[in-house]
Amino acid sequence: MGLKLGEDAPNFQGTSTIGEFDFYSFLGPSWGIIFSHPGAFTPVCTTELGEVARLKNEFDKRNVKVVGLTTDDLGKIQEWVKDINETQQCTVNFPVIADQSHKIASLYGMIHPDASATFTVRSLYIISPSREIKLKITYPASLGRNFTEILRAIDGLQLSKEHAVVLPANWKQGEDVIVAPQLPDDVAALHFPKGIKRIKPYLRYTSQP
Ligand code: BEZ
Repeated sequence: MGLKLGEDAPNFQGTSTIGEFDFYSFLGPSWGIIFSHPGAFTPVCTTELGEVARLKNEFDKRNVKVVGLTTDDLGKIQEWVKDINETQQCTVNFPVIADQSHKIASLYGMIHPDASATFTVRSLYIISPSREIKLKITYPASLGRNFTEILRAIDGLQLSKEHAVVLPANWKQGEDVIVAPQLPDDVAALHFPKGIKRIKPYLRYTSQP
């Protein structure tokens, strides 16, 4: 269900809290995140949108533009945003799409009929500047997402895109990375002049480029 890794994230037009909205125009040359949540005036979603708003600087630093989506009408979302700002000590500073018709949610596979015929689940897509879907997660309505992990994932995806490295379990900024397995030793030595720690032929660490 939904779009797959490596596929293009489809463009769409819609209504949003910042007005009429074209997804690709909004993203421009940036990375993108689109994340859905089950509905307005729901407690877990309230905390999620507040957290995303508070993390704006972190998304900006990584050149990521964030878009929320819910299957409610715009008026209701606008009223809810006032509550979010009040209760989460934030200013919602990213667009939220009012997808009352479910058109966009269906396009992105954000409605899971076994969970609810009408509400979106907690889907999240990370999209590269070339519009490729690089990561997707789906959480149930009952569990809020960990946006620290989303930032970590963006860091890892951006690093892997720029350098021939992959990231180990629980990797964080500044920690050693793994040399991409497809890189032969002699080529790897040229790429990583600071040195390579060879544990096994397939497990070679180097410091974060
Ligand atoms: C929530 O966001 O709090 C929520 C939404 C739907 C069902 C349960 C919780």
